[in-house]
Amino acid sequence: MPGVTLEARELSKWFGSRTAVESVSFTAHEGEVIGLLGPNGAGKTTTIRMLSTVLPPTAGDFEVAGVPSSRPADIRARIGVLPESSGYPGHQTGLEYLTYHARLFGCSRDDAKRTAVRLLGQVGLTERANTRIATYSRGMRQRLGIARALVNDPAVVFLDEPTLGLDPAGQKEILTLVRTIAEAHGTTIVLSTHTLPEVEQVCSAVLILDRGKVISAGTVADVTSADANRQSGRLRVPPGEVPRAKEVLAAVPGVTVTPDDRRDVVVLTATDGMNKALAAVLNAGIPVLSFEIEGTRLSDAFLALTRGGAS
Ligand SMILES: Nc1ncnc2c1ncn2[C@@H]1O[C@H](COP(=O)(O)OP(=O)(O)OP(=O)(O)O)[C@@H](O)[C@H]1O
Ligand SMILES: [Mg+2]
Repeated sequence: MPGVTLEARELSKWFGSRTAVESVSFTAHEGEVIGLLGPNGAGKTTTIRMLSTVLPPTAGDFEVAGVPSSRPADIRARIGVLPESSGYPGHQTGLEYLTYHARLFGCSRDDAKRTAVRLLGQVGLTERANTRIATYSRGMRQRLGIARALVNDPAVVFLDEPTLGLDPAGQKEILTLVRTIAEAHGTTIVLSTHTLPEVEQVCSAVLILDRGKVISAGTVADVTSADANRQSGRLRVPPGEVPRAKEVLAAVPGVTVTPDDRRDVVVLTATDGMNKALAAVLNAGIPVLSFEIEGTRLSDAFLALTRGGAS
């Protein structure tokens, strides 16, 4: 069994009264690619920033490569990060940039250059090694950023939306690279994304975040099948019947009533289709004025991804 390289325990982050991440726990092993999937504002970047020691957690702790979160400098020596949006010095060449970063980790000039040349090869930028970064395409910059994240031969690499803004070919290059790095070096990779196909192509496990919470976790197969039947809906009943409708619905297995103050609408989520929920309300003699079914935000994200992905 490959060793544990990352363990997060009940990590939480509040910004003032806003909860960005709430009690996120997970474990990752050598060579594993973990996907953090979720809509805008779900807490992906905040989670990555805590694990990469940029932001201190409000609560909870973690270990990276056996180093506890109480020793952030030691963790930084063992990780690589591609931040959500990173700037590059356009006047430098790719080779200069990577050599400089390898030097920051204490390599001699010769070793730093050797590392830079090797990494440029690994990310497919050998031909552009001596041209200025300003002339690189977005995909090339992302690959250069990944190369930079690897200069210290890290145990764990965090990539925050590495494929954002890339065309399907560019996305595929990055994903292939991610898999190669994990397989060839046993590196653990945590990558965040909005898009499910990306997770399906490259991740061994996935953590789905929504409003700061893990709403689903496991292998990609587990998570997609668990989500396939999840639906949410809005049930309109006569205003006086709302409390009773909520009570009846809350007793149906798999149904969750979402807090909502509207007088005549009950918002609910069901993990196994809506039929039982609707039947329960009708059986209780509550008139149903209208019933709209919609995907959850998660299913929406999945659908959008599945449709929008490189097919
Ligand atoms: N420095 C900050 N100060 C206040 N609120 C913040 C800060 N950083 C993040 N947040 C809030 O925390 C929540 C989670 O944000 P986060 O950036 O982690 O989401 P995300 O999943 O990375 O979203 P996206 O897909 O848009 O990148 C959001 O509500 C965001 O507004
Ligand atoms: Mg983000």
